[in-house]
Order: sequence, then C-alpha cells, then structure tokens
Amino acid sequence: MYTTLLTSLEKGIFTITINRPDKLNALNKQVFADLNAALDEVYRNAAIKSVIITGAGPKSFVAGADIAEFGDLDKEQAMDLARNGQDTFFRIERSPKPIVACVNGFALGGGCELAMSCHFRIASDNARFGQPEVNLGLIPGYGGTQRLVQLVGKGRAMELLMSAAMIDAATALQYGLVNHVVTAEELLPKAIGILDTINGKAPIAVGKCIEAANAVFDETKNGYETEVHAFGACFGTADRKEGTTAFLEKRKAVFRGE
Ligand code: COA
Repeated sequence: MYTTLLTSLEKGIFTITINRPDKLNALNKQVFADLNAALDEVYRNAAIKSVIITGAGPKSFVAGADIAEFGDLDKEQAMDLARNGQDTFFRIERSPKPIVACVNGFALGGGCELAMSCHFRIASDNARFGQPEVNLGLIPGYGGTQRLVQLVGKGRAMELLMSAAMIDAATALQYGLVNHVVTAEELLPKAIGILDTINGKAPIAVGKCIEAANAVFDETKNGYETEVHAFGACFGTADRKEGTTAFLEKRKAVFRGE
C-alpha cells in the first residue's frame, strides 16, 4: 500500500517506519505522500489508538529532506514546499491520538523537525540531532525554527540553528528534546510500554490533553480557555462517568472512547 513506509498495527499501536535506509530515510515527495496517507488512516481508523514513527535500519531516523529533490526552486515554489511540509507536520502535532517519535539514529533537518512535531520523543543511544540547513544556505522550513525554540529554549535553539551543530542523545536528553534514552534494542519496547499505559486511559481525555497543551504555542488560541472547553467536553463523556464510577467502586475503569 505504501511505497516508502512499512506499517503495522498491534494492540492498538500503529507503527510507521520510514523505509529508505539506503538514503538514510530522507524525506522525498513520495515519503510525504505516504505519510499523509498513513495519517489519514490514523485519523480515520478507530482500531488505531496511538502511533510510533521510526526509521528503517540501524543508522538513521530521518537524515532530512531529500536534498536531491531541491533542484532550482524559485521563491514561490520554495515557500510551497515549506508550507506543504509544515501542513503534514501540523497533522502529526494536532492528531488527537498520541504520536511518539522513536529516534533510532540521525534526526537531521527535516528528520529533527519530524521528530519535534510528534507529541514526544524517545531516542536510542546512537541518536544524533541537528538542524544543518545553514550548511546548505538554507534554514529549516518544516517548523523547525519554531518547535526547536519551544522544546529546548531560545538560547540553545539559536546556537543549534546557526551553528548546524549535531548533538548526541545524552545532550538531547539534557536539553529536554527527548524524554528517554535507551539502547537500540530497547527503543520500540520502551515506546510500546508507555503507549500501552496511555492506551488504557480515556481516549477522549488523552486527545484533549494534546489539544490543550498545543494551545500554549498557538497564538490564535487562549490556552486557559481551551482547557476550560476541553474540561467541559470531557465531563459530558461516558468515559468520565465510567472513570469516576470505577474509582468509587474500587475497580479498574473500562473506557470506550465515548
Ligand atoms: N537527502 C538526500 N540524500 C541523503 C540525505 C539527504 N538529506 N542524507 C543522506 N543521504 C544519502 C547520501 O547521499 C548517500 O546516498 P548515496 O549512497 O547514494 O551516495 C546515503 O544517503 C548515505 O549517506 P552518507 O552521506 O554516505 O552517510 P554518512 O554516514 O557518510 O553521513 C550524514 C551521514 C547524515 C552525516 C550525511 O548523510 C549528511 O550530512 N546528510 C545530510 C544531512 C542534512 O543536511 N540534512 C538536512 C537536509 S535539509
């Protein structure tokens, strides 16, 4: 079904593996088309409760946008390229289902931007992060200048953006860019363990956590007001009733996403 992705669905966890290992999983047009189709599936398929995005092979998560496709774009075409990339990554960021990046090697340029658009990140100890676009006379175009500042703070982001420096997994952990660093073997099991826990919670409430936390960084929204509305919406759900009733009855809640 997908040319550049491998996908699997197990126990509600949909794993998307970007599969161009000979090109270090660089994001070309086909990867973006496939990613959008996979995101359609994520949004549409009720059997998918959460998502892992990772890269094929032992070396790279995603080593950036496919530089071979850049060609000679004029200014308008380059702006379209950036907008389209941003739109795809907004769909990841705004997904009501949790999406976790399992960073298994290089996460450079568009690869770091892809990881940053996910709700959180787990890295293997060989992961490397960076925004090397200034080496190419460019800047990040898929949201990297914004999300890097959000995640690591302005000073660190400025240094990384302007120097094109690569940081290792330990530094990424120290910066707060990733939540956990584990061995390559432990990477997917670690994400699956966390997502198993999340998948046991009330899905509508989980989606509302994402919506409210995203509102912090959305200048068109008042985050506190978004929280009030999200809280109110949760109160109307059958899962809220089940959650509070189960607590009072000292039993485990069974959530249905309703
Ligand atoms: N776009 C297109 N192709 C890429 C790529 C990218 N972003 N990153 C790696 N590749 C390709 C290489 O061209 C090479 O292809 P080839 O075997 O057909 O020549 C293959 O992937 C392997 O990469 P290689 O450079 O040989 O691996 P390495 O271990 O020596 O170096 C990197 C790894 C990540 C340091 C290096 O590939 C690199 O700097 N990539 C570009 C990173 C970048 O600037 N990303 C931002 C783009 S906006």
